[in-house]
Amino acid sequence: MGVSIRVISESMLNLREIAESIIKKPGVFLDETKLYPEYVPEVLPHREEQFKQLTKMFKHVIVSPGSSSARVVLYGSLGTGKTATAISFGKVISRLAGERGVKLKYVHVNCASTKSALSVFREVKNQLGLKVPDRGLGFSEFVQVLLREMDIEDLYAVVTLDEFDSVLLNFESGDRYSLVRFYDIFHSDVMRLNFIYVSRMRLSDIVRVLDEISGSYMMRNTIVFNPYRSRELYDILNYRAEEAFYPGVVGSDVFEYIANLIGYDTGGDGNARKALAILYSAGKLAEREIEEGRASRVLIDHVRAVSAREDLDLIHVLDSLNYLNLHQLLILKSIAIGLKETGSSYVSIGRVEEVYRRLCQDTGLEPRKHTQIYYYVTELASRGVIMTRKTLKGRRGRSSYVSFGAAPLNSLLNALDRAIAMRREIGE
Ligand SMILES: Nc1ncnc2c1ncn2[C@@H]1O[C@H](COP(=O)(O)OP(=O)(O)OP(=O)(O)O)[C@@H](O)[C@H]1O
Ligand SMILES: [Mg+2]
Repeated sequence: MGVSIRVISESMLNLREIAESIIKKPGVFLDETKLYPEYVPEVLPHREEQFKQLTKMFKHVIVSPGSSSARVVLYGSLGTGKTATAISFGKVISRLAGERGVKLKYVHVNCASTKSALSVFREVKNQLGLKVPDRGLGFSEFVQVLLREMDIEDLYAVVTLDEFDSVLLNFESGDRYSLVRFYDIFHSDVMRLNFIYVSRMRLSDIVRVLDEISGSYMMRNTIVFNPYRSRELYDILNYRAEEAFYPGVVGSDVFEYIANLIGYDTGGDGNARKALAILYSAGKLAEREIEEGRASRVLIDHVRAVSAREDLDLIHVLDSLNYLNLHQLLILKSIAIGLKETGSSYVSIGRVEEVYRRLCQDTGLEPRKHTQIYYYVTELASRGVIMTRKTLKGRRGRSSYVSFGAAPLNSLLNALDRAIAMRREIGE
């Protein structure tokens, strides 16, 4: 009896020690969500100039609301802070307007997950919280009811049409025209809608395409987002790390190393998303090693390890998540699940389709038809998001096999789940 009590109290002591050692061990991440690609930080170092230009172009929205409609193009390559700047600007300007008694709301539409001008304006209506019936109205009627509701509520809006390239490339010409020359169609004395168009095209291409849409008219208000230089990335990483990591866990040597790897002036592509993803992956690797007692902080070696191997594939896929629609994301998720379940490097499209149907069923979505799925897969492959291979050796037929390169499946699945949740939130 006495013996067994001693055994129990000894093992309790062990449990206590285990718990204490876990609590005492310094963590790595204070809040890792602060490094997620969709997180919009409070401050955007090195985007002050763009912010200033935006404010100048939208000044009249606050000073003399309704007098004209601002239209501005933000352009620049991947991960240069266009989306983050637009969202931060939206927050600031709607607050400033409110303080001056102007009811102004900010609306952010990801055009890659819309199909037509009507679906863009449905999204605008949802985010403005207006009561316009969704069904039964054509585009013009829908917009007219929406504008009337805005009149009644004396409401103004800044609408960002993000991923606008997909409008220019995929929308019908009438729809493109309506989005670029809104008030040339919907004449109004009080112009309540203002637009920010976000593009990754080169300026000369944007101007050419917009000129084709709008005849001699050219959009002159353009703001360039240059790829980040190494020095700028250093500041960005430093600032974002302050929010995400415990103090002292990452040193300036790590920021410098990543900044030089990605900086435009040091041979990289100046993509902040990529720089942040590397910092995040290095942090995750260090976290594991710290738990196993093999490291005590994030080191340049961790950065070397993640940037030399598969994680860069993951970053490439992450870059593409913005411009894919919900069903393409579900197909990517099905490929990842298929690869995980079979444990092989390629999975057949048949299998992917099975998983996809299961996912749709679980989430209450209507699955796309076989031909559409096949089309999406081809499109994903042509954008370089996935790799395809014709029949395996010795077999006939057109069934293809797909893969993701070497991206780590668990991180990929996490990122996909977040992107899918976001798309569903905006009601696609
Ligand atoms: N100046 C900055 N300061 C802090 N974080 C930044 C800055 N610029 C970009 N980021 C971060 O880098 C990531 C990419 O930025 P963002 O999504 O705004 O790029 P983008 O130009 O819209 O890219 P894409 O063309 O691929 O959509 C985001 O997580 C964003 O928060
Ligand atoms: Mg963007």
